[in-house]
Formats: sequence, structure tokens, C-alpha cells
Amino acid sequence: MNGLGKSLVIIFGIINLLLVIFQVSTGKRWLKVNFKWHRRLGVVLLITAIIHAVLADLAL
Ligand code: HEM
Repeated sequence: MNGLGKSLVIIFGIINLLLVIFQVSTGKRWLKVNFKWHRRLGVVLLITAIIHAVLADLAL
């Protein structure tokens, strides 16, 4: 994989880590934001996790 591909896998990995932290924090209501953001960003996380996996696995 070229340098751009590797960078993208790393960037999506960091985005996923931040989104998982956000999801657990809002799901447990440690972080008080409108719950619609938990539902919306949960779906965004599904998509970014799939992109991360496809890039890392198929594009390596
Ligand atoms: C990877 C994505 C997600 C993670 C890691 C996550 C995590 C969590 C966690 C840790 C809780 C608290 C559970 C508890 O304390 O018993 C929770 C609650 C909840 N989540 Fe998620 N969630 C995700 C995605 C979603 C999505 C996509 C939806 C809906 C579209 C959703 C809807 C809810 C609802 C309705 C609750 C219950 C809140 C309450 O009334 O206390 N979650 N989630």
C-alpha cells in the first residue's frame, strides 16, 4: 500500500477510536449532549469502521 493509503487507514482508525469513546460516553450519559447525536454518530461509526476495515484489509 502507498503512503496515502496507510495514512488514510491511520486517520480512520483515530476517527473510530474517538467515535467509540464518544458513543460510550454519551450512551452512559457521562457526556450530556442531545441523544440524537448518539444515534447519528453510531451510524457514522458503522460506516467509518467499514471504510477502515476495507482499506486495511483489501488495500494492503
Ligand atoms: C458503535 C456504536 C455504538 C456504541 C458503542 C453505543 C454504546 C452505547 C452504550 C455504552 C450505551 C449505554 C448502555 C447502558 O448503560 O446500559 C448505549 C445506550 C443507548 N444507545 Fe448506543 N451505542 C452505539 C450506537 C447506537 C445507535 C446507532 C443507536 C440508535 C440508532 C443507539 C441507541 C442507543 C439507545 C436508545 C440507548 C439507551 C439510552 C438510554 O435511554 O439510557 N446506540 N449505547
